[in-house]
Amino acid sequence: MRAVIFDLDGVVVNTAKYHYLGWKKLAKELGFDFDISHNERLKGVSRMESLNIVLEVGGITGYSEEEKQKLADRKNRYYLEMIESIDGSEILPGIPEFLEKLKNKGYQTALGSASKSGRMILEKLGLDSKFDVIVDGNLVERPKPDPEVFVKAAQLLGVPCEECIVVEDAQAGVQAAHAGGMKCIGIGDERILGEAEKVVSDTEELNRVDLERL
Ligand code: BG6
Ligand code: MG
Repeated sequence: MRAVIFDLDGVVVNTAKYHYLGWKKLAKELGFDFDISHNERLKGVSRMESLNIVLEVGGITGYSEEEKQKLADRKNRYYLEMIESIDGSEILPGIPEFLEKLKNKGYQTALGSASKSGRMILEKLGLDSKFDVIVDGNLVERPKPDPEVFVKAAQLLGVPCEECIVVEDAQAGVQAAHAGGMKCIGIGDERILGEAEKVVSDTEELNRVDLERL
């Protein structure tokens, strides 16, 4: 194994909750409650795909593409307002140590995120220099579970896909890693991420995974 590709929201930074709160606020304005039980489906998927899921949960149909774009933009404004003041305390536990350990062991590292704010968030937290390659939602067209984002990261690193390990908190992300021919470590619930080669309950535990025995 030569490289580790990280998802962002819910893996490197604790921003998944702000995506959820942004959608919840939008749903409230549209007249329904978007509760946490539906949130798993939003993890890892693109902004427009997330909107489609939120509208489906609310039983809302009939918006034109233009209206949907405006709703997605509105949610993004709420999200950007919420993350305006984030700082290093939102970096998930054990991630700086894990990145350091990977560097010392000679692994290359990349970001592979669906979020169009991916690079901006890493820069804001001073983490951008810790990744050899950054691929975010601005550089890809097809959302996870399509492997495009991870395959692009591997190409930019110059590492074959089968020598890359993906770290993911979303089911769509685990599927994307496998579709790209990569191994995957899931962060979270074994019942949701069980297809991954290894599932750990939190990011701190990444430091105890033997990457060569996945
Ligand atoms: C993913 C998140 O990383 O990025 C999703 O898990 C989010 O919840 C997606 O919808 C797109 O993010 P953005 O910032 O481009 O709206
Ligand atoms: Mg994620």
